[in-house]
Amino acid sequence: MSYPQTRLRRMRRDAFSRALMRENVLTAADLILPVFVREGENIREPIASMPGVSRLSIDELLKVAHEAHALGIPALALFPVTPPEAKSLDAREAWNADGLAQRAVRALKAALPELGVITDIALDPFTTHGQDGLIDESGYVLNDETVAALVKQAVSHAEAGADIVAPSDMMDGRIGAIRAALETKGLIHTRILAYSAKYASAFYGPFRDAVGSAANLGKGNKYTYQMDPANSNEALREVELDLAEGADMVMVKPGLPYLDIVRRVKDKFGAPTFVYQVSGEYAMLKAAGQNGWIDERACVLEALTSIKRAGADAVLTYFAIDAARWLRETK
Ligand code: PBG
Repeated sequence: MSYPQTRLRRMRRDAFSRALMRENVLTAADLILPVFVREGENIREPIASMPGVSRLSIDELLKVAHEAHALGIPALALFPVTPPEAKSLDAREAWNADGLAQRAVRALKAALPELGVITDIALDPFTTHGQDGLIDESGYVLNDETVAALVKQAVSHAEAGADIVAPSDMMDGRIGAIRAALETKGLIHTRILAYSAKYASAFYGPFRDAVGSAANLGKGNKYTYQMDPANSNEALREVELDLAEGADMVMVKPGLPYLDIVRRVKDKFGAPTFVYQVSGEYAMLKAAGQNGWIDERACVLEALTSIKRAGADAVLTYFAIDAARWLRETK
């Protein structure tokens, strides 16, 4: 009888040796909570395709922010739900100093200055057609005109006190243009989180319901600016440009189906690399959990740990509060 020369199971036998050899550890400090903010007071409006997630009025947002902060979550990412009457072809509500996002930023920074506030830079919540940019007669999203609008939006968020602006629009050259404008205005501390490798993904469906852009977009798609899910080298070119243009952090989005991209980006650039576990990923895990088909808590913590293992430094996840709580209980 011949025996194995190496017994890898020896180290797996007991909890103590499993703990000692564990390579990656998920903590609350790795998590960013995306939140949907709406007009009104005292409102938590549930989102049907994202059970457990609601659109929050600013007063309710502050309560959630306190909860997240108390659990050790370092930052929130804000997504405004624009009332239909504030949407337009030129998206001018996006840089209204008194817009919903700007007011939410000011309220958050006044109430909880230590909590990081990230804002989304893109025009889709503000356009009547639901595209991330300005369009021509044929419906094509215009690059340079859109970048000029995004610059106004980013400056207005930074002036309201946003710590991090996060362009999610995928226009060419927007990071450089935003960085230059921020420097010119003396806003030298505002960080840029570039959605660099953002794919044209069907997993964004529930998000578009949540911000109310799905109906505006209709049968439209974002293939002329978001990346083809079949591509990988192109993601590296996007990241390289965004870093050269002045991004402080880069992002890969969605998460779990794109972990190969995360690993390549991290290995090649070593820059702070964030991952967005998007609305469709949340909905899948939630639905299966609610049906009793999977163990929600175990699967969510496994998915988030896998994203870290792939090379992510932080993860945007709608599970942030639950995960932070679960991590406390496990300790
Ligand atoms: C909009 C934006 C989207 C998401 C974040 N910012 C949707 C899109 O590009 O259509 C998706 C987030 C999610 O699905 O959770 N620029």
